[in-house]
Amino acid sequence: MGSFRAPHFIAMSLSLLTPVNLGALKLKNRVVMAPLTRCRTDNPGFVPTDMMAAYYAQRAGAGLIISEGTIVSPQGRGYPFTPGIWSDEQVTGWQKVTSAVHAKDGLIACQLWHCGRLSLPEFHEGQPPVAPSAVNPLWKMFSPTNQPDTVTPQALTREEIKGIVGDFRRAAANAMAAGFDGIEIHSSNGYLFHQFFSAQSNQRTDEYGGSHENRARLFCEVLDAIAEVMPMNRVGFRLNPMLNRFHGLTVDADTVPMWEYIVRRANAYGLAFLHLTEPLHPKQIEDTPGALADVGAHFRAIATMPIISNGGLNQAKGEARLAANLCDAVAYGKAWIANPDLVERIRLGAPLNEANPETFYQGGEQGYLDYPTLNP
Ligand SMILES: Cc1cc2nc3c(=O)[nH]c(=O)nc-3n(C[C@H](O)[C@H](O)[C@H](O)COP(=O)(O)O)c2cc1C
Repeated sequence: MGSFRAPHFIAMSLSLLTPVNLGALKLKNRVVMAPLTRCRTDNPGFVPTDMMAAYYAQRAGAGLIISEGTIVSPQGRGYPFTPGIWSDEQVTGWQKVTSAVHAKDGLIACQLWHCGRLSLPEFHEGQPPVAPSAVNPLWKMFSPTNQPDTVTPQALTREEIKGIVGDFRRAAANAMAAGFDGIEIHSSNGYLFHQFFSAQSNQRTDEYGGSHENRARLFCEVLDAIAEVMPMNRVGFRLNPMLNRFHGLTVDADTVPMWEYIVRRANAYGLAFLHLTEPLHPKQIEDTPGALADVGAHFRAIATMPIISNGGLNQAKGEARLAANLCDAVAYGKAWIANPDLVERIRLGAPLNEANPETFYQGGEQGYLDYPTLNP
């Protein structure tokens, strides 16, 4: 992270610090906080807490905060202590978070999440989680006490799929009621939408499986449903086409054509942004036949909506991506965990704190509220 250091005179002209509009979202700078699950919602109603409001307010210097993955329904749960957005109580909890961020002149979008088969029976009263098809991702998940193996999920019925569309509609409406400035659909990283997109996990023979059109159907139905309750220029979505046996899915010969199809369909909706993750290590590209060396460059040519780039970027790499017009804004993950004043540090060319992975998910204030700022 030392490479974030930059001489002051360079910092003055940083593109990262210039404002940008992503649809209706007016960002004061291009330094986005990537969605980061922190497992701090340790209450039975999965209600965002005052501690979470303080954490997000500390990071309100971001041009846009994308919240941690937020579960749209009890059926969508996959991890312990993650917040929800289906109940009135949860909406009230999130209102405290969005008010705290707005009070410090920040913007915050809610990442809407359904984990599908990346889950455990213990989160579903002993029943298997749901997925497009009964295919076990063969992955390890987290329970509050250990790391159990995944199980074979239950294939969703068509009626249940309609129910999920309704769950996303309600979640989007709730996000607006909670004061969020927008939403990001988590359509990546091996979770429910991605499970529909990939023929490895989607072996359905009905209108939700088979062709590109069919495998993208749930995603498009969800976009249509969300359009009924909020402006689409406040909606973004996330794709990570670089997965190599990550969360149970592998890049295959159909991955890039499928993601191209999704982006072309999404172009019709006038969305706020497409959030893309780059490969974190060059080795990922070498080891993955059919992988893209530069995800952003590939989709910049196809997407009509603004692009947020993310994944293993530091300040210099983020600046270079902006200079090459590969993206409109840059999202940082771990750097935001450890640096509540990340934008100020970029402005000054100051060194960054290192994130401690031990405290990513452990609960409590330690490693959450106590990373030091330059001006305490
Ligand atoms: C602790 C942690 C939690 C994460 N939680 C989420 C999440 O809830 N939703 C999501 O889309 N990505 C999640 N990610 C991925 C990040 O958004 C980001 O893509 C990743 O950290 C790479 O960016 P970086 O190299 O700047 O850290 C998480 C990553 C970390 C380290």
